[in-house]
Amino acid sequence: MPASKPSPIRRTQTRPPASVVVPEVTPKRFYGHGLPGEDLTKLNGKLIVVEGADGSGRSTQISQLVQWLEGTGHATLQVGLKRSTLVSEELEQAQNGNILSRTTLSLFYATDFADQLENAILPALRAGFMVLADRYIYTLMVRDLVRGVDEAWLRNVYGIALVPDAVIYLDVRPEQLVQRVFAKNQSLDYWESGMDLGLSRDMFDSFLKYQALMRAAFRRLQKTYGFAIVDGERPPSEVSEELKQKISAVLAGH
Ligand SMILES: Nc1ncnc2c1ncn2[C@@H]1O[C@H](COP(=O)(O)OP(=O)(O)O)[C@@H](O)[C@H]1O
Ligand SMILES: [Mg+2]
Repeated sequence: MPASKPSPIRRTQTRPPASVVVPEVTPKRFYGHGLPGEDLTKLNGKLIVVEGADGSGRSTQISQLVQWLEGTGHATLQVGLKRSTLVSEELEQAQNGNILSRTTLSLFYATDFADQLENAILPALRAGFMVLADRYIYTLMVRDLVRGVDEAWLRNVYGIALVPDAVIYLDVRPEQLVQRVFAKNQSLDYWESGMDLGLSRDMFDSFLKYQALMRAAFRRLQKTYGFAIVDGERPPSEVSEELKQKISAVLAGH
């Protein structure tokens, strides 16, 4: 039998596979004292925070980012405020009853944050996940700052927090926010309108005043924490493109 000719290598793929960007590992640190016993060199994932007011488009943008990241081969985890298994229900009850003093409520939120940091964020980062946080310590700090809580005290409390790899603040004027929130829910939320502050008895008016105070406090905090302020008043797809560019840079270790 004649020796058969070696068969040519068959190429079944006409296009190269979409390349998966392996995230470049960059050093992590805590803002302050951090959580004890945590080996920061083992955190291979990335922590991306999307900050912004009620109606600024955080949920819209995070769902786009999750689709994009998972489509390019990254495992993702979404976290947010008041989602801890430890205290989120009790926190909701405390809010509804308006029963806690400012400092106690503040520490209650800090507990919710610490629980998620320890039991969700850090384990996911150890496993190399992209963790997307729908708000982080900045919202908690700003809410307290506009209620007169001491900034140095807050910085100390949130010294447990991990410094994220990227923080994006979606900037939207209060007049826009109120329209979006109304169109979505047909109502305003008591706390997101800052009704506990007594700025106005009219919830609509209170929302505008409260969100203006929050926006100013965010801008002040930006000077300390240096997060990226992104114009959230453009169409969602444009905002999304900007976020993807920023996160691509983070993946590349910049
Ligand atoms: N860039 C945008 N321009 C106009 N409307 C938007 C934009 N982003 C989101 N929205 C709309 O505004 C409302 C609030 O958006 P959402 O993503 O739920 O905000 P958040 O999670 O920050 O409260 C939704 O009805 C959403 O469709
Ligand atoms: Mg949302």
